Amino acid sequence: MEAIEPTPQEVEAVAVGLAGYYNDPYNRRMMAHGGELSVDDVVSCYGDLRAQGARPFLLRCAGADGEARGALVGDADIRHIAGGETGEFAIMIGNRDLQGRGLGMRFAVMMHAFAFRRLGLRRVHVSIIPDNASSLRLFEKLGYERDDRPEARAFADDQTDLTMSLDCDRFELAMAQELTEIQIRERPHPGPASRP
Ligand SMILES: CC(C)(COP(=O)(O)OP(=O)(O)OC[C@H]1O[C@@H](n2cnc3c(N)ncnc32)[C@H](O)[C@@H]1OP(=O)(O)O)[C@@H](O)C(=O)NCCC(=O)NCCS
Repeated sequence: MEAIEPTPQEVEAVAVGLAGYYNDPYNRRMMAHGGELSVDDVVSCYGDLRAQGARPFLLRCAGADGEARGALVGDADIRHIAGGETGEFAIMIGNRDLQGRGLGMRFAVMMHAFAFRRLGLRRVHVSIIPDNASSLRLFEKLGYERDDRPEARAFADDQTDLTMSLDCDRFELAMAQELTEIQIRERPHPGPASRP
């Protein structure tokens, strides 16, 4: 399993697949997305995230499609990075057939290792629609707790959204075993890129 910070060319190469994942009716509802996203919208989203200082990743899993090595299974990012201290996490295991098999949890641990250990953030926030049971469970397992302080509520897209946050020490404690299996490496080609 690998999460890579893609070059623009790598985003373009998988944009059709990503658009399919984003536009799946269930995924769209869980992520509270508005309209359908075109392939160009997807490419623009990645460009916008980068321009805002966010760190978007593609999630790839060897053998996920039965044949290919490193098939795309979803994406994740750390966004709204403020003062080098806090950020917001988002994740999607886009292939519906692969949801509920532990991939989300494993990729989320990798992304948080990057956020806390490489970016040096102290606290990460999430905002979730109340009936997103798999997200709630996943974040709870990572060590997240409900957070209704104004700085946490600022991440809610809708007033009914639940807001949670996780600090670095709590994550390190909760995921001590899982973290022993993660490697973070610089990628040898252009672009700010690391690979948990
Ligand atoms: C949310 C998401 C990333 C979780 O990833 P996943 O691979 O499906 O989840 P995992 O298999 O790692 O499961 C994590 C935990 O949630 C539980 N879970 C999974 N699906 C569940 C469901 N439908 N209802 C309740 N719990 C569920 C798992 O059992 C596991 O808990 P456990 O270890 O105690 O058994 C993924 O389902 C997804 O991308 N969904 C659509 C987009 C989305 O909701 N993104 C997040 C927006 S905040």
